[in-house]
Amino acid sequence: MEFNILTLCYLIGSVTFILGLKMLSNPATARKGNLIAAAGMIIAILGTIFLYEQDGQKLGNYGWIFGGIAIGTVIGFLSAKKVKMTAMPEMVSMFNGMGGACAGLISIVEFNHLVKTYPFGELPVTTVLIILLGLIIGSVSFAGSMIAWGKLNGKVKDFSFPGQHIFNIVLLFVILGLATYLIGWSPANPIIIFYAIFVLSLLYGVFFVFPIGGADMPVVISLLNSFTGVAAACGGFLYDNKVMLTGGILVGAAGTLLTMLMCKAMNRSLTNVLIGSFGGGNKAAAGDAKAQGSYKEISLSDTAVVMSYANKVFIVPGYGLAVAQAQHACHDLEKLLESKGVTVKYAIHPVAGRMPGHMNVLLAEADVSYEKLLEMEQANEEFPSTDVVLILGANDVVNPAAKTDPSSPIYGMPILDVELAKNVIVNKRSMKPGYAGIENDLFFQKKTSMLFGDAKKVLQDLIGEIKNL
Ligand code: TAP
Repeated sequence: MEFNILTLCYLIGSVTFILGLKMLSNPATARKGNLIAAAGMIIAILGTIFLYEQDGQKLGNYGWIFGGIAIGTVIGFLSAKKVKMTAMPEMVSMFNGMGGACAGLISIVEFNHLVKTYPFGELPVTTVLIILLGLIIGSVSFAGSMIAWGKLNGKVKDFSFPGQHIFNIVLLFVILGLATYLIGWSPANPIIIFYAIFVLSLLYGVFFVFPIGGADMPVVISLLNSFTGVAAACGGFLYDNKVMLTGGILVGAAGTLLTMLMCKAMNRSLTNVLIGSFGGGNKAAAGDAKAQGSYKEISLSDTAVVMSYANKVFIVPGYGLAVAQAQHACHDLEKLLESKGVTVKYAIHPVAGRMPGHMNVLLAEADVSYEKLLEMEQANEEFPSTDVVLILGANDVVNPAAKTDPSSPIYGMPILDVELAKNVIVNKRSMKPGYAGIENDLFFQKKTSMLFGDAKKVLQDLIGEIKNL
């Protein structure tokens, strides 16, 4: 009877996880999807704690289990409440690292059990294989995620030495060689080999992420996220736990797809991300703003007039909007312009900001209607009939070099064709480059005007100007 209820708990956990993932793909249902998946997981976890039995024995250790859950819940709740939208990738990295660590710890515990169960005999090959996969992938994911977290919050600097990629490959082969030895040759002291694999895997995780350009971390985090999923799925195999298996496989698959989509949206191969150091040391390409010619500035009052008398305005949000936390001011401007009869829409580039869906989440926070958010292809079709494009803290995603300059690191990346509109107004604080570290020709074009300043302050002042018209 209990077994059946437990199976039902796992079924609920798996179905809600899949449902939650599906709902996450739309901003309107994402929050609900997250809650549904979390509720299903709670049912699966409670089911395991109270109903799972091995050799007629329940799990027990309730003090430890609920003590751990309580500490984790408080830390998770507080950090999720405190985190700024721009620091989200580093938080995801930290949480992902914890998942990898759990998968690694499961392998350590289970290997010790196994060695005690088979003190003199050969260890069962399939079980050792799964344990080792969980250990290696989980440890790489943990160590890599910690370095990624450190890089994103500026505590760890990019680091590489000549021949590092060869060193990494050799390290990986040593790990795989030791694992094969442990599985195939049943050495006399398996524990020593096991811990050697553990330490080398941690080292590999560190050296794998160290040389990657700090700015490429979101892609790497997504890749490490898929590693953690696979490592968790190994735990599911080990315990014959269906919900862990489903969850792990879904996370692994979703992480892999997301990594591929991000690479595609930036028109880069994964190899290029892993060994290319994009946006890391590439600032040399930034050049001198003056070398590009001259740019023209526009005043707040002129911007107010141009925007108020337009028929259609497009807002292009970018990373700077998130930094300035200007989403509410942006929504206020949209409402004000609409009250004056101006049609206002947003053009969302797939990699605007620093994580997938960054702009959608940011604007949803300020209650911007989803119907107003147009994807790149749709927006590009509408730019020729647009009077004003207001770019708020975006740079690379509107850089025409992606179409015209084969030597540019962003060449081939699909961009928003804002220059097709009648007027382009760019708000940023200076002429400094964005993420890719390269100059932007758009800023020097005839129909472009620069509106310098912090996005939030500029928008608030602009709203004041329009109201005074
Ligand atoms: P960026 O190219 O990084 O440009 C952001 C601009 O915002 C900067 O030029 C900066 O100029 C300006 N800015 C910063 N703080 C500001 C503030 N307080 N007020 C006004 N402006 C401010 O951003 P983007 O156009 O959104 O492009 C995203 C980049 O990130 C792409 O290259 C993309 O490939 C990369 N990337 C994205 C993702 C995902 S999934 N979204 C993942 C990995 C990499 P000033 O300093 O002059 O103000």
